[in-house]
Amino acid sequence: MRVLSGVQPTGELHIGNWIGAIRNWVELQNIHQTYVCVVDLHAITVPHDPKKLSENTLTTAALYIACGMNPEQCAIFIQSQISAHSELCWLLNCVTPLNWMERMIQFKEKSQKQGDNVSIGLLDYPVLMAADILLYDADLVPVGEDQKQHLELARDIAQQRINSRFGRDGKPILKVPKPLIIKEGAKIMSLTDGKKKMSKSDPNENSRITLLDTADLIKKKIKRAKTDSHIGLEFDNQERPEADNLLSIFSILSGLGREEALKECSTMGWGKFKPLLTDATVSAIEPIQSRYKELIKDRGELHRILDNGRSQAEEIAQVTLERLQAALGLLKKNKVNH
Ligand code: AMP
Ligand code: TRP
Repeated sequence: MRVLSGVQPTGELHIGNWIGAIRNWVELQNIHQTYVCVVDLHAITVPHDPKKLSENTLTTAALYIACGMNPEQCAIFIQSQISAHSELCWLLNCVTPLNWMERMIQFKEKSQKQGDNVSIGLLDYPVLMAADILLYDADLVPVGEDQKQHLELARDIAQQRINSRFGRDGKPILKVPKPLIIKEGAKIMSLTDGKKKMSKSDPNENSRITLLDTADLIKKKIKRAKTDSHIGLEFDNQERPEADNLLSIFSILSGLGREEALKECSTMGWGKFKPLLTDATVSAIEPIQSRYKELIKDRGELHRILDNGRSQAEEIAQVTLERLQAALGLLKKNKVNH
């Protein structure tokens, strides 16, 4: 099977991105053909700083590797370096109904934040994401819970708008992908509000722990994390979203799992729990940080890895693009010399 996923190079990756997405890719690369990209074209759908974008793109790729993505086992590449992503996006734009796009929850949320400055790119974001996925005939797309609706859109475009309209003799043109959302950790919440998703764009830096935070900073952020007046940690109590979130993070990062973590913390006060969570977090991300520091020293090697990933990915992308161009009736380039 083929797997594809990606993360935007906006700001620093946080433990939500790692737990909800990247951590799952690492296991998948051992069993499936895996493609992971840094989706820089998605990052420019909201106002951005051009000075930071290329650096963030490279550091995000380095973090993929530091988290355990192995360039020998998977293709790691930069979305904008393969023009087929934009080209397929245009073809899909022309068959996707506008009202499907206006329903997208993330668009509604993000456009509200942008006020009068909403780009067409922001509305089109999910179609570009569909192009990313459909170009590689991906079977599985490992993502966090928040991307479920975008995955459904990609499936609908492939099935209802391309295959059933343009497929011949019952033969599909595009593979219909499936989301892979691993329940545990699929939605890590903010440290400062257990009802809000941990997000790169939250203006309050204390709301998230990034993969490159120092041990000191992690300690401070966890110390400040929102708590409640109850003693004892527990899962699934709607009235205690912070307890549920922090205990979930602890159970995952300590490696104890839900049952053991609950046993250990069910009668523990916050004052005792927080240092435990800090230790578990620091030791879980320490190996990522030390690998990252090595990788980022050798930028030449990083570029070589990305070039290699690009050429593997480009080959597949081009074949799919040409298949769709033909199905839509676009005139093929004449390759014979006159
Ligand atoms: P983004 O930060 O929007 O580029 O998201 C990259 C990946 O991380 C996607 O697969 C998201 O679903 C996942 N993700 C983002 N935030 C969280 C979170 N708070 N908890 C779990 N997964 C997340
Ligand atoms: N929209 C995704 C997010 O914000 C990122 C993304 C873009 C993606 N293209 C993708 C994820 C293709 C999986 C597959 O998280």
